[in-house]
Amino acid sequence: MKPLLRTLGGEAVWPPPVWLMRQAGRYLPEYRAVRAGVKDFIALCTTPELAAEVTLQPIRRYGFDAAILFSDILILPWALGHGLEFREGEGPVLPKLHDEAGVAALDPSRVADRVAPVMETVRLVRTGLATEGFADTTLIGFAGAPFTVACYMIEGGGSKDFANIRGMAYAQPALFQRLMDTLTDASIEYLSAQVTAGAEALMLFDSWAGVLSPRLFRAHVIEPAKRIVAALNQRHPGVPIIGFPRLAATLAGDYAAATRVNGVGLDTAADLPRIAAMMPPSTAVQGNLDPLALVAGGAAMAAETAAILDAMRHAERPFIFNLGHGIVPQTPPEHVAALLRLVRAAS
Ligand code: CP3
Repeated sequence: MKPLLRTLGGEAVWPPPVWLMRQAGRYLPEYRAVRAGVKDFIALCTTPELAAEVTLQPIRRYGFDAAILFSDILILPWALGHGLEFREGEGPVLPKLHDEAGVAALDPSRVADRVAPVMETVRLVRTGLATEGFADTTLIGFAGAPFTVACYMIEGGGSKDFANIRGMAYAQPALFQRLMDTLTDASIEYLSAQVTAGAEALMLFDSWAGVLSPRLFRAHVIEPAKRIVAALNQRHPGVPIIGFPRLAATLAGDYAAATRVNGVGLDTAADLPRIAAMMPPSTAVQGNLDPLALVAGGAAMAAETAAILDAMRHAERPFIFNLGHGIVPQTPPEHVAALLRLVRAAS
């Protein structure tokens, strides 16, 4: 069985399997070359031949244990009919959802058609991995978790304090719950279609989970993830799911136990063995090198990597080496190669 799937099945594989969030992207010259040839980022995500090509680029260069579907978490709200634009150097820009009409306008009936190119990408990547000899590489499909997707819809893009979404969760709880339910249902269908197309594992990105109070974390991070995991386990038994409740701190333990995900991605601030000890023993942990240590490279990267490997070596639980958040564009590609050598040499 593929190393990543063994790990997500509960086995402590050593050296650990390794892949990196945002492993396809602007730090790679071959990505920038493909990106330069398309109108915008959404066009790249919805052109299967190109999306499959950029998914495979980091696998060819580094031989990671996982390929992650090239798409974006904001493709799902886009497919629901919410506007989306990626402006150069500015990140995503969306209309600000703030009322009943905004939630009522979301139309699940159009999603399957609009995400059809993503499913074709999944099929092309599976074929590509097989024909190019990457028999040990696992294809991960993904979606944004409902809370993080709602963050971008309500804030209209990124935010420093997420005041609008937190305000809505407190002041308009019924409306907010309706939005969360719509996104949860749509995520189940979207992820299920990815598995049908060939995704071998799934990941749920909740990048802003850490801005919520414990009570709201349980309601809007744990509950939707629990519902998504239960539905997918029923439809696709044996397909593992990784949750990434970023900056959850000690609530990552509650998240793992309650949602029954197979793996939990931890951010850079998490002290891996201590947070891992709060989870069921078979739950894999994934993380958590600082992406800026990868930019620095050299002795600093080696020291951070060694600290993570030393902490997990004797933990006797499944571990996947990754970053604590996505690769940043200024990362020198040769530092990624050096990191893989360090992880694969782990004794
Ligand atoms: O390699 C991979 O990890 C697969 C593809 C992937 C992308 N985004 C490609 C992308 C994945 C899994 C994501 C997830 C994603 N997207 C998250 C969750 C993880 C995280 O980073 O917290 C979030 C919050 C988004 C939303 C998003 N998409 C933002 C905020 C931005 C702009 C910031 C930036 O880096 O430019 C994007 C754009 C985006 N998504 C790019 C890529 C490669 C850059 C766009 C470009 O090439 O012009």
